[in-house]
Amino acid sequence: MPLPTQLTRIIEDELSTLDRRTLARAVEELSNSYRNLRGDTSCSVSLISNDVQRAAYLLTRVPATYAAIHAVLREVKERTPDLEVRSLLDLGAGPGTAMWAAAEIFTELERVTLIEQSSSFIRLGQKLAASARSVAIQTARWVEADLKHETQLPAHDLVIISYALGEMPSASRSQLVHGAWQAAAKVIAVIEPGTPRGFQVILQARSQVLAQGAHMVAPCPHGRQCPMDNQSQRNTAEDDCATRDTKPKQDWCHFAQRLERTSLHRRLKSGELGYEDEKFSYVAAAKQASAPAAARVIRHPIQLKGHIKLELCTPEGLKHETVSRSQGEAFKKARKVKWGEAWEAGPNEPPNASEC
Ligand SMILES: C[S@@+](CC[C@H](N)C(=O)[O-])C[C@H]1O[C@@H](n2cnc3c(N)ncnc32)[C@H](O)[C@@H]1O
Repeated sequence: MPLPTQLTRIIEDELSTLDRRTLARAVEELSNSYRNLRGDTSCSVSLISNDVQRAAYLLTRVPATYAAIHAVLREVKERTPDLEVRSLLDLGAGPGTAMWAAAEIFTELERVTLIEQSSSFIRLGQKLAASARSVAIQTARWVEADLKHETQLPAHDLVIISYALGEMPSASRSQLVHGAWQAAAKVIAVIEPGTPRGFQVILQARSQVLAQGAHMVAPCPHGRQCPMDNQSQRNTAEDDCATRDTKPKQDWCHFAQRLERTSLHRRLKSGELGYEDEKFSYVAAAKQASAPAAARVIRHPIQLKGHIKLELCTPEGLKHETVSRSQGEAFKKARKVKWGEAWEAGPNEPPNASEC
């Protein structure tokens, strides 16, 4: 999902004054920092502290986080078609990426509040917002604050924390999720990088909102214990040299959104692919019960001659399902279904379902 044209244009204007080599170096450093960000950290891990790094973030990360947020909100809309989002609270907003995606999906959006600790990101976000067609974006309220100390968050229909919760010290995360859930009049969405660490952050947020009475919207087809919770914990515990050869492959719930790189991004990363796959983990939960998916496709389906193999998360746990041509309608659906999508044919329909 590409960025809205006016956002692409203003980002390119913003970057046009910067020296290309300095920007290319900052892009390289930023992607190395993200790659090296593994394991839990008990302190804040903000990776962006100067203007060139912020420019690199605009160029490389904003299109990617936008694509992930857009995919999540599309799914929320799909699962709750009657949901009306008139107000949005974005926590750890950076340059305001989430509101651009929300305004595309929820065209009824009227009011946006963004809380962000960095005044430089706020100034940048305001500059981008001035070019928007959406009145909600143009008139958004930016609040400079440290979320570690914000206990009372204002109520809004939708609360988003995207790629920010994992940057908080672990001790502050549960307080923020608690406040965010209280502030969510209708829905909360938490999005993190699709890494084992990002997934752990999502798992904690998921358990916490469920304990506070949330109803799952996506991706989970149920509000029971996550079947990948034990796996990822067991594998993290086993992640040492002694067990490396024998341990099962580490598994975590994540999805991917493909996005085209902008021409400037391609020029700076000459020789690399013209697209990238942004991997993300997320949870979306609502105050009101909605109809969760019957099952969720958690890997790329494998298409073989005459049958398709699906890996699914279901209310009964993780399942492999083989859908064969003889299953008519289900086979037609299986040919189209993609990683991350709901599988509505139901895990019990075909005869070849087996527990993982
Ligand atoms: C990786 S950026 C994500 C920005 C945006 N949400 C997005 O998806 O593109 C994380 C943002 O969270 C902000 N942040 C981290 N800790 C924060 C805190 N304690 N209070 C307020 N903002 C914080 C950072 O300043 C940064 O702008």
